[in-house]
Amino acid sequence: MASSSRGQFSSRFGFIMAAAGSAVGLGNVWGFPTQAASNGGAVFLIVYLLMVFLLAFPMLVAELTIGRYGQSNPIRSFRAAWPQGKAGAILLGIVGMIVVSLILSFYAIVAGWLVGSLFGSGFDLLGMQTASHWLTSFTTERNLILMVAFMILTIVVVRNGVANGIEKWSTRLMPLLFILFGLLTAYIFTQEGAWDGLKMYLVPDISHLTPKLVVSAMGQAFFSLSLGVCVMTTYGSYLKKEANLPKTAAQVALLDTGVAFVAGLMILPAMFVAKHNGVEIFSSSGELLNSDTLVFTVLPAMFETMGTVGAIIGLVFFLLMIIAALTSSISMLEVPVACAIEELQQTRTTAVLWIGGLVTLVSGVVVFNFSSLFGLVIQVTTVYSQPIIALLITLIVGWIWNRNQILTELKQGYPEIEHSWFWKIWPIYVRIVCPVLMLMVFFA
Ligand code: TRP
Repeated sequence: MASSSRGQFSSRFGFIMAAAGSAVGLGNVWGFPTQAASNGGAVFLIVYLLMVFLLAFPMLVAELTIGRYGQSNPIRSFRAAWPQGKAGAILLGIVGMIVVSLILSFYAIVAGWLVGSLFGSGFDLLGMQTASHWLTSFTTERNLILMVAFMILTIVVVRNGVANGIEKWSTRLMPLLFILFGLLTAYIFTQEGAWDGLKMYLVPDISHLTPKLVVSAMGQAFFSLSLGVCVMTTYGSYLKKEANLPKTAAQVALLDTGVAFVAGLMILPAMFVAKHNGVEIFSSSGELLNSDTLVFTVLPAMFETMGTVGAIIGLVFFLLMIIAALTSSISMLEVPVACAIEELQQTRTTAVLWIGGLVTLVSGVVVFNFSSLFGLVIQVTTVYSQPIIALLITLIVGWIWNRNQILTELKQGYPEIEHSWFWKIWPIYVRIVCPVLMLMVFFA
């Protein structure tokens, strides 16, 4: 029964938009440019691209393949790939589910700020400064209300299910995001100062290359492709058997990396445009000021100096960020919801309501203890948990899961795979290179 009532993406395009929607989020538009700007620009970009290509992409194929093979929530999919390790598989699924819920709990807070900035720019345009000020000033009430608003949005989309909620919204919103993004980037280039930013972003200065930079780039790559917390396992389970997994994964990775690249292309020049317009962005020692809040302070400051046009551009920009955040947050909520539907035999509505409610509650606790919990939750989930779980998944695929079963699974959408270079490299690669690379980076 469980399998006949499971949702499925209705088209390959829909799947790619949904998976790219999960991957493309605050990590691309906020995290990547901020990290690139504070880590020397071009060098970070290069290391990041290497990490995506060498580590994240093979692991994305691994996660998608387990999910599609299991045709179920991550707990069952891990069990299918690792039949001897029942307890281990269950534990891994549950830990992944908890970590992704915690990620959602801080993600919703940041996404709430975006909602605030969007309406803030709107009220600004209408001349309602008091409302705009409230929406964009850091207070506990504002953080709480906006976070709850964003969680409600997420809950509503996920409640509508895979094809009708997640896929429908992703196929509408993602192309819109790409278009808005391209326009905004083109506009920035017409502004004075933009070329300095472009130079920093594209001309490498090797003195910035440090072990810390490599670790940050790896974490950023995992976060950006939504790896290591069963999101891609879950999405893979909704994918049709005809889909070619390596090709699909490559398309998702390329879209995600493309958006991060363009985001850098927009935001680094924007910083220098802001600087040209008298906004302070670097301290006297050359450090980036406010590196955490780049997007929330430097960009609005830049929009402000651009007059009415700037206010409209600001509106578009924040709308874009909310779209990106929403298609990511729905993928996070879907993981525990899928588990509850199949493991606890609940209806989608029940599962979405109680789990969404619980995440909102946890997020509320973080809001009330912002200074002690916010950074800590981010650190524990993204810096430690995500790479470790991703490593464990790779070990299952590389060492435990029967190689013939993997081949049979991949062959369904890619009959000639046995003779491809992909199949010559990938299994060994996932078995040895990925774990070794990750351990090396981790212990650096
Ligand atoms: N990848 C998304 C981003 O770049 C965020 C995201 C969605 C995520 N699902 C995830 C991050 C799962 C970690 C784990 O913003």
